[in-house]
Amino acid sequence: MKTLAVISRKGGAGKTTLSINLALASHLGGWRTMLADIDPQRSASDVMRARTGPGPTLAEINAGKLFQTRSHAIHDAYDVMLIDTPAAPDSDVAVAVNSADLCVLVCRPTFLDIASVARSAEMVRRLGKAAVIVLSQAPPKRGALEPVAVQKAVEALRFCGLPVAPVGLRSRAIYQQSIAHGRSVGEWDSASPAAQEISRLWDHLAAQLTLDQQARGARAV
Ligand SMILES: Nc1ncnc2c1ncn2[C@@H]1O[C@H](COP(=O)(O)OP(=O)(O)OP(=O)(O)O)[C@@H](O)[C@H]1O
Ligand SMILES: [Mg+2]
Repeated sequence: MKTLAVISRKGGAGKTTLSINLALASHLGGWRTMLADIDPQRSASDVMRARTGPGPTLAEINAGKLFQTRSHAIHDAYDVMLIDTPAAPDSDVAVAVNSADLCVLVCRPTFLDIASVARSAEMVRRLGKAAVIVLSQAPPKRGALEPVAVQKAVEALRFCGLPVAPVGLRSRAIYQQSIAHGRSVGEWDSASPAAQEISRLWDHLAAQLTLDQQARGARAV
């Protein structure tokens, strides 16, 4: 089983929105998926409760239960565990980072988010974990032109010493609309630009995790 921790110490960066969309991309892609919500705010759990029909298994737990929940998930042959984390405290975030094969550092293209990601990058490095930065709520391109804020953010993030994912999430109303119904952006509108960015991002992360394509194929038949 591969474990992915979605983190940012800045509140509202888009951790839950990303966790939900990635968990659904994984589930709909045929991987046996668990979404662990260790945030006492329970936003991911609220979203999953709004969902009708099958979806990823929800584990509504505190950080102290993560190790045990992960062991059970491995025993029960889950392929993927996604962890939606709180902005604080650090100790809970560290538990998630320690459990992860890959940490996804969520970052809006703003000065304060970038400063916060620099500190998270330090924690991830200290704990010896692989990580990737995903830009979130970025202003959309104007034609082919990348907004200056995004260009500057990508430049500044180079100093964190972690890779920035080749595709991020733009600020789009569909992320808010779909999540209110427990749906991914792809389920809401499969032809939308948001669906394309989530699909490309999931493919990128799955490749980083070297997720077993054969396991997925075997389950899909
Ligand atoms: N790409 C996006 N486009 C538009 N709105 C977004 C996007 N990502 C997140 N939002 C909105 O921003 C707000 C915060 O998002 P979210 O709850 O996912 O962040 P969070 O990092 O999980 O917050 P917290 O730190 O409180 O857990 C929500 O209202 C959400 O709908
Ligand atoms: Mg959240």
